[in-house]
Amino acid sequence: MNKDIVCIGAGYIGGPTMAVIAKMNPDRRVVVVDIDERRIAAWNSPDFALPIYEPGLVEVVREVRGRNLFFSTDIKAAVKECDIVFVGVNTPTKMFGRGAGRASDLQYWEATAREIKEWADGDKIVIEKSTLPVRTAAAMEAILNHDARYRFTVLSNPEFLAEGTAVRDLLEPDRVLIGGPQDEAGRAAVAEAVEIYASWVPRERILTTNVWSAELTKLAANAFLAQRVSSINAIAGLCEATGADVDEVARVIGADRRIGPKFLKAGPGFGGSCFKKDVLNLVYLCESFGLHTAAEYWSGVIRMNEHQQERIVSRLFREMFNTLANRKIALFGFAFKADTGDTRETPAGAVARLLAAEHVRLAVTDPKALGNARRDLADLDGVVFEEDEYKAAEGADAVVLMTDWGRYPALDWRRIYGVMRKPALVYDTRNCLDAAALREIGFRVLNVGK
Ligand code: NAD
Ligand code: UGA
Repeated sequence: MNKDIVCIGAGYIGGPTMAVIAKMNPDRRVVVVDIDERRIAAWNSPDFALPIYEPGLVEVVREVRGRNLFFSTDIKAAVKECDIVFVGVNTPTKMFGRGAGRASDLQYWEATAREIKEWADGDKIVIEKSTLPVRTAAAMEAILNHDARYRFTVLSNPEFLAEGTAVRDLLEPDRVLIGGPQDEAGRAAVAEAVEIYASWVPRERILTTNVWSAELTKLAANAFLAQRVSSINAIAGLCEATGADVDEVARVIGADRRIGPKFLKAGPGFGGSCFKKDVLNLVYLCESFGLHTAAEYWSGVIRMNEHQQERIVSRLFREMFNTLANRKIALFGFAFKADTGDTRETPAGAVARLLAAEHVRLAVTDPKALGNARRDLADLDGVVFEEDEYKAAEGADAVVLMTDWGRYPALDWRRIYGVMRKPALVYDTRNCLDAAALREIGFRVLNVGK
């Protein structure tokens, strides 16, 4: 018989992952629980006003919600009734005490382990879906199995989806990773977890390892991706200084099949809830094991990323005649990438703060992230938030494009030019607009790495 599933944590990971698991396993009951009542209410909202925006997600939730997917705040009942518990709670960077600013804050995760132990009334397989430091499963096992009436087997099944393409990534993953203990109970639990995914993922793409390799692989994979973005951004600065064009350089580097073309797009630096957090976590792990040179190497990836945002503001300062005070700048896009409303660690936030420090009058526009932008910048005076790009640009000296939303190239840039102060500047930090066409209209145009 197929076993029922509960997922603790109804966020960006828990919601979409479980929706797809429920879709592809119609004979399993899947319950997603959270302590956040408002979030659960949004997942259950009659008009499908879900708490997160992901292309294609509403359609999946419409199909499975109430059929075999349920959202609830009753953690006790859900844990009791299931056989397999996924844990997808948040693991932010710790901001206090030992490891502050680098290590993962495991308090939410630890609370979850205690909840599972308290409410369980039978043996359970517990699957880490959150991204965790290596050897966290050992701590979870220690809490769960200490003095326990039931047997808990802990697996690591890190998630590789990217926001904005979550549903597609879940439906057609490059690989699914399941790490388990190398004993009989561990092997049996891994086989159960494989069954969940095998209902739609080809077997050869379901990779199994030991638990520690699975936990470390997730951190390493994000660090490699972040490192590629920092590497191309390091080249972008050199391009601006020498007259080379970073998009041309990236195209040719990427044509080498050993390197490949993906993740070579220069821009305002990486954002999102995970790259910085996971690289910092890796740095902390390296330091904890006395691997100081490795720690420094990975720290450089973060330092390069912050430098990219500082460089964007410095260039704007130079190009706007060394004074930004009282000038109006419109930020087009606040989400950390297109097709998401998520603004966690968004480069637009860092740029907004650097500009606010120069007493710039800021107008922010974004098709999906305006609510989050308002919350993130609530402490800054005089920022206006506009749904409408043309209104945001009214009277502005510069438009700084921060997020590569597909709608931006299609805007009426002649009309935008018409409402701006002259000389009107466009700083396209994503290199996604037609610079030649903008120049023809009369704009001064800046790009990253050109
Ligand atoms: P999130 O903040 O969106 O969601 C986490 C949820 O867990 C919140 O709704 C919170 O209320 C809930 N929660 C916390 N403690 C709880 C408890 N004791 N009981 C019940 N619910 C509790 O976070 P997220 O973006 O979904 O990330 C979760 C994990 O997944 C992180 O470790 C992250 O690194 C990893 N991850 C995220 C992504 C992504 O694209 N966001 C991708 C891969 C991995
Ligand atoms: C990333 C990884 O891609 C996922 O595999 C992983 O599961 C996830 O982190 C996680 O652990 O949370 P995500 O942060 O959602 O996914 O989005 P990405 O597409 O990786 O983009 C991250 C940032 O890098 C964005 O700000 C994006 O604009 C930037 N980026 C990406 C570039 O600047 N250039 C590129 O070439 C690619």
